[in-house]
Amino acid sequence: MKMCEKIQLFDWLTLLLLTAPVGGVLAPGCELELREVAPFSTDGDFVLGVISASYTEVIYPILDYREIPQPVRCEGFQARYYRDILAILFSIEEINQNQYLLPNHTLGFQILDSCLSEVVALQDTLQVLSGENKTIPNYKCHAHPALAGILGEIHSAVTEVMARISGVYKIPQISFSSQHPILSDKFQFPSFLRTYPPDNLQPRAIAQLLRHFNWTWVGILSSSSDVRSLSSQKIRQEVVENGGCVAFLEKINNRYSKERLVRVVDVIRQSSASVIVCNCYEMHLRPILELLALQNVTSIVWVVSSGLTINSHLFTRESWRLLNGSISFTGATNGIPGFIDFIYGIRPFVYSQDTFTKLFWQKAFGCQWEGQNMTAMVTGLEVIPCTGEEDLKELDPELFQLNDLSISYHAYLAVYAYAHALHNMVVDGAKEDAFGTHTNTNNVEPCFNINSQDDIQRSDVVKRNSGLEAGEAEVLQYLWDVCFTTDSEQKVYFDANGDVPTVFDIKNIQIYPDDTSKVITVGKYDVKESPGHEISLNVTAILWNQRYNQAPRCVCSESCPVGYRKSARRGQPSCCFDCLPCAVGEIANETDTTKCWKCPEDQWPNESRDKCLPRVVEFLSYQDPLGATLATVAIILSLVTVLILIIFFWFQSTPIVRANNRGLSYLLLCTLTLCFLCSLIFVGFPMQLTCMIRQPAFGLIFTLSVSCILAKTVTVVIAFKAVNPHTHLRKWVGSKIPNLIVIFCSLIQLVICTYWISSHPPFPENNTRSESGKILIECNDGLTILFYCMLGYMGFLAILSFIVAFLVRTLPDRFNEAKFITFSMLVFLSVWLSFIPAYLSTQGKYMVAVEIFAILSSGAGLLFLIFFPKCYIILLQPEKNTKEHLVGKMATRK
Ligand SMILES: *[C@@H]1O[C@H](CO)[C@@H](O)[C@H](O)[C@H]1NC(C)=O
Ligand SMILES: *[C@@H]1O[C@H](CO)[C@@H](O)[C@H](O)[C@H]1NC(C)=O
Ligand SMILES: *[C@@H]1O[C@H](CO)[C@@H](O)[C@H](O)[C@H]1NC(C)=O
Ligand SMILES: *[C@@H]1O[C@H](CO)[C@@H](O)[C@H](O)[C@H]1NC(C)=O
Ligand SMILES: *[C@@H]1O[C@H](CO)[C@@H](O)[C@H](O)[C@H]1NC(C)=O
Ligand SMILES: *[C@@H]1O[C@H](CO)[C@@H](O)[C@H](O)[C@H]1NC(C)=O
Ligand SMILES: *[C@@H]1O[C@H](CO)[C@@H](O)[C@H](O)[C@H]1NC(C)=O
Ligand SMILES: *[C@@H]1O[C@H](CO)[C@@H](O)[C@H](O)[C@H]1NC(C)=O
Ligand SMILES: *[C@@H]1O[C@H](CO)[C@@H](O)[C@H](O)[C@H]1NC(C)=O
Repeated sequence: MKMCEKIQLFDWLTLLLLTAPVGGVLAPGCELELREVAPFSTDGDFVLGVISASYTEVIYPILDYREIPQPVRCEGFQARYYRDILAILFSIEEINQNQYLLPNHTLGFQILDSCLSEVVALQDTLQVLSGENKTIPNYKCHAHPALAGILGEIHSAVTEVMARISGVYKIPQISFSSQHPILSDKFQFPSFLRTYPPDNLQPRAIAQLLRHFNWTWVGILSSSSDVRSLSSQKIRQEVVENGGCVAFLEKINNRYSKERLVRVVDVIRQSSASVIVCNCYEMHLRPILELLALQNVTSIVWVVSSGLTINSHLFTRESWRLLNGSISFTGATNGIPGFIDFIYGIRPFVYSQDTFTKLFWQKAFGCQWEGQNMTAMVTGLEVIPCTGEEDLKELDPELFQLNDLSISYHAYLAVYAYAHALHNMVVDGAKEDAFGTHTNTNNVEPCFNINSQDDIQRSDVVKRNSGLEAGEAEVLQYLWDVCFTTDSEQKVYFDANGDVPTVFDIKNIQIYPDDTSKVITVGKYDVKESPGHEISLNVTAILWNQRYNQAPRCVCSESCPVGYRKSARRGQPSCCFDCLPCAVGEIANETDTTKCWKCPEDQWPNESRDKCLPRVVEFLSYQDPLGATLATVAIILSLVTVLILIIFFWFQSTPIVRANNRGLSYLLLCTLTLCFLCSLIFVGFPMQLTCMIRQPAFGLIFTLSVSCILAKTVTVVIAFKAVNPHTHLRKWVGSKIPNLIVIFCSLIQLVICTYWISSHPPFPENNTRSESGKILIECNDGLTILFYCMLGYMGFLAILSFIVAFLVRTLPDRFNEAKFITFSMLVFLSVWLSFIPAYLSTQGKYMVAVEIFAILSSGAGLLFLIFFPKCYIILLQPEKNTKEHLVGKMATRK
């Protein structure tokens, strides 16, 4: 047995690690019993300790405390993991053959299987540190040249326990697959580096991919492990920050009860999210996929994180088919030239201690080595002996899963990182030699004598001390500084956290109807690119799930079109909303807006409510057909009135004109002319003046007309009474009373109108409230009540005339005018009574038109009923227009 020399360490750690011997030979019985497995090793000037897995499970012995427990047993050989070990072998061979990298030095290795178990890996680590098939904490028993560093492990949990030990001794450790963010913490893991991109940026990468496809409504499945739970939370956070929403976040684990898994499947089935991010390990996803396959849920697009191993062999046929069209993230991988040939060139007897290949041979060809009983394996009754000459090409090409060389590639990079670091160290050593500081390059070979109080920051001091004081720490120092370019032009260096820059490949799983599958690289996430452009994708290369011909849409609510605004649904995430049309007078000129804009006063939304258009200005103009018609009618009517006036004037001496106060008839005709003309003030652009005078003018003129008519009826009464010679009224016959009536009645209206104009004058106004899309330019009546007062007073006079005319309608007069006046007042009153509801229910120019219409029709009523019969007699039946005729008529009536 070789002498073991003590490794310098803190005292507490010495205690902790329970080391018995103090230098010298280990006393028998002081050694702790451990499984002793001879590593697969070859010698070299520098040795890399490789702790990786080919087995995936550990079977712990049953402890019954009656006999010495069996050592732990490993099971579940995976050719895929074995491939990663082959990648390490391949790169070491390649480096040893390289004349430029590490010339005159060879790299050796010591490979131990960790079986993906923390316990076994810890043991392996101690064994690698101690050397010589021994696991003696804090002691190294090397006969062969020392260890340059450790490579491994695959799983973060296992890597972590190893990194705690390697950190104590400052022995460099490079993992090629661990992604746990905590390993970036250089206070806890000062000598840990990795070539696989850490998980830190993956949530962001996933969120950016989702945003790239506008997938704002996604579900997340997360393995229940700490790392995945944590990063799933980060994914959720990133998704929300990118404007998306998470429909659900469910934890999964293959150890969960069936009920719990079924519940998760129900959540998936019931959710409208068709894109699910699976931040999980394949074994956790497997039972979920199987349940989904049973329920024919085939339309999900999966986005899987780098934790998931993409391998059809790990899934059943049906569940693997569900992954058709999925998108996955893996650490960026370039080809490893010559590796495939290397794999197919392996033979079991190239290395004498190569247990891995022999094991692989047994598993792959279902044979058994003669004399070797490495695993209890029964193939039926017949045992085929292995010859070593079997043809690897006959094997299932998917066995090594060469479509995803990701981890192998990163293992390859890790070996190269060591080689370059060692190369630099050797070159530097040689240089320092030239300056006389070094005596022998062998002295820089690793020694264990580093005081672990030295931290990274002080390792340059260690380096300067050189010689025996240096060692792995020096290798570590060179590793920090290493920077090389691979054959495939990838630049490799480590940042301050010992991580390589995050570059992920985005891959697409394509499964063909014949169940062959391909995993194709369709894009990249490169953190070195400028923000916002980290993701580059070749979308045409993506084959989507058979349900979609193109990138599926995945939103909770379709975006709101212009003219609509989002209205949040109570109790639901922000991506789920209803689209409500903008309120009257508001627009939304952008999609997905939460708020509608109010159009300015003089503008109005167009039909689709995406633009404010200037409102149409509306008033009753002369250009308007309605306005023009009314104005024409008004002018014609006034001309007719004037014509009648002329006729009356012409025949002024005829009895029919002279009857019933000729002067009043003239006055009435004049006011009617004005009535028709005053309607013209209502047409045209409302101005200050027209607004102010039009209603009062109309009121005054009409009042004058009505009072004329009243006076006329009164005249009839007086005329009748005057026939009686004894009455006092006789002296009043003539024009006095009627004139007084006209003046008095008009005066009252004049007072009302004067008060109106002086206190609340009407004014022009732009009315934007009443009608959509229009500005109504109209006259505000100032005090509306005064308008109705005016109208009411006019009505009162009309009623009065009507009553008086009605009472005297049977009285004989010279010409029976009272009857016509009764009719005309009836027409007048009905026009103005129906005017009020019509006036109140219209707006803008129609309101004005209604008033003009009322003016014209009532005026025309008066004109025609009172004056037409007279004109008819005057012009067509002049024989009746004689005093005798009238008197005779009167006489016959009597
Ligand atoms: C390698 O060894 C050869 C012969 O011993 C020597 O000539 C050569 O310089 C060495 N190369 C390096 C890089 O040390
Ligand atoms: C380790 O053990 C193996 C097998 O038990 C043996 O072949 C090998 O020589 C041992 N190595 C050393 C350095 O003792
Ligand atoms: C995502 O949405 C933006 C804007 O809405 C659009 O320009 C882009 O084409 C969409 N991308 C995809 C992949 O549909
Ligand atoms: C799934 O589909 C198969 C065949 O297409 C059918 O037999 C089975 O009933 C379906 N299962 C469910 C749960 O719909
Ligand atoms: C060898 O394998 C057989 C089964 O193939 C098993 O029964 C036997 O125990 C094994 N022997 C040893 C020494 O492991
Ligand atoms: C994208 O993929 C398509 C189909 O695989 C291929 O023809 C095309 O060359 C690719 N484009 C780029 C820029 O890689
Ligand atoms: C996978 O999807 C592709 C394209 O959508 C489709 O052609 C293919 O048949 C699907 N594979 C299976 C196994 O359904
Ligand atoms: C939408 O309308 C608002 C207010 O009118 C304006 O400020 C904004 O620029 C408009 N946006 C677009 C895209 O037209
Ligand atoms: C306004 O609405 C009309 C339909 O009424 C529509 O055709 C037009 O595109 C809308 N938007 C704009 C900016 O004109």
